[in-house]
Amino acid sequence: MSNLPKLVCFSLLSLSFSLMTHAAEKAGYYGYGKAASQEEIAGWDIDVRPDGMGLPDGSGSVEDGEMLYEDKCAECHGSFGEGVGRFPVLAGGEGTLTDLRPSKTVGSFWAHASTLWDYTHRSMPFTEPQSLSDNEVYAVVAYVLYLNDLVDDDFELNQRNLAEIEMPNKPNFVPDPRPDVQNVRCMKGCKKANSIGIASSSVPLDNIEMQKVAVDEKVTSPGEVIYTQSCGICHKGGIGGAPIVGEKSDWKSRISAGMLTMKQHAIRGFQGSTGFMPAKGGFMNLSDDQVSEAVEFMVEASQ
Ligand code: HEC
Ligand code: HEC
Repeated sequence: MSNLPKLVCFSLLSLSFSLMTHAAEKAGYYGYGKAASQEEIAGWDIDVRPDGMGLPDGSGSVEDGEMLYEDKCAECHGSFGEGVGRFPVLAGGEGTLTDLRPSKTVGSFWAHASTLWDYTHRSMPFTEPQSLSDNEVYAVVAYVLYLNDLVDDDFELNQRNLAEIEMPNKPNFVPDPRPDVQNVRCMKGCKKANSIGIASSSVPLDNIEMQKVAVDEKVTSPGEVIYTQSCGICHKGGIGGAPIVGEKSDWKSRISAGMLTMKQHAIRGFQGSTGFMPAKGGFMNLSDDQVSEAVEFMVEASQ
């Protein structure tokens, strides 16, 4: 008899437990929170991409922007974008990026006008972020572009023409060709920590055209020029498992698979047994022919 209440109690408990689990399943894995509504998602989903994707309908002129800028931005960024005190400079700075103290502004540094729209819309004015209407953002962005001599004074910015604005420093942004490093933890016979250093100090972050001038003087074959500029970073020292140019044993089996296969691998990229070869080594500005010429040079130098 004395066991009965316990039993009832137990089954009630398990009943409420199973109800709870049921409710939890509905609410999500951890049992709390709720699915975000379309409206809530829209509040967060405000990013704008370089191709203009994500921009809301709207427009604003340089002229409208001037007044707004004076009113809402100039106290910190200066009437001409020159920056007040230590607040960021928004205009000027062209040609200073290689100086000891580069002036990185919207005009001298930024690669896409969409970043300016997104940043302003998301976070400016500093003390009242997201207080501007979409049209006000268009206007004030048009004005900042005007301060950087990127548009004329009668320009009107909208969701269609923003992606067409060519930012001067865009060509100097290049894909980072360094591979992700996947390593196995070393458990015995490992290198001494203080002997480990950076193997390649020549990752070409500079403009490809600029390097070409320097290399052309020393070498003749176009394949070698491309190799030196774009492929040598990995293939000279064997970074990430790349077959070393000049090291016959690294190339023997590859060469026997045929030139065509090697060229295709170099152009399209491939995951082999020693590492990952990114398509065109990450230099997507190279043509297929240029990559093929580099492969020919590399193979010739390695057999
Ligand atoms: C109260 C001062 C203040 C006001 C007003 C203000 N900003 Fe800013 N702005 C800042 C600060 C501070 C930063 C740097 C924030 C950071 O780096 O986190 C900044 C950064 C920026 C940047 C990025 C600069 C860069 O090179 O990284 C842009 C663009 C910008 N503001 C535009 C605007 C515009 C447009 C307005 C007017 C609508 C505005 N700001 C109003 C203080 C202000
Ligand atoms: C980020 C490093 C990296 C860069 C830059 C790079 N490679 Fe490679 N490459 C590799 C790696 C790693 C392999 C070996 C992949 C494997 O077989 O596992 C490889 C393999 C190759 C092979 C052998 C293909 C085969 O079929 O075995 C060729 C040819 C080649 N690369 C050409 C190039 C050319 C041409 C360039 C410059 C345009 C270049 N690579 C730039 C990392 C790189």
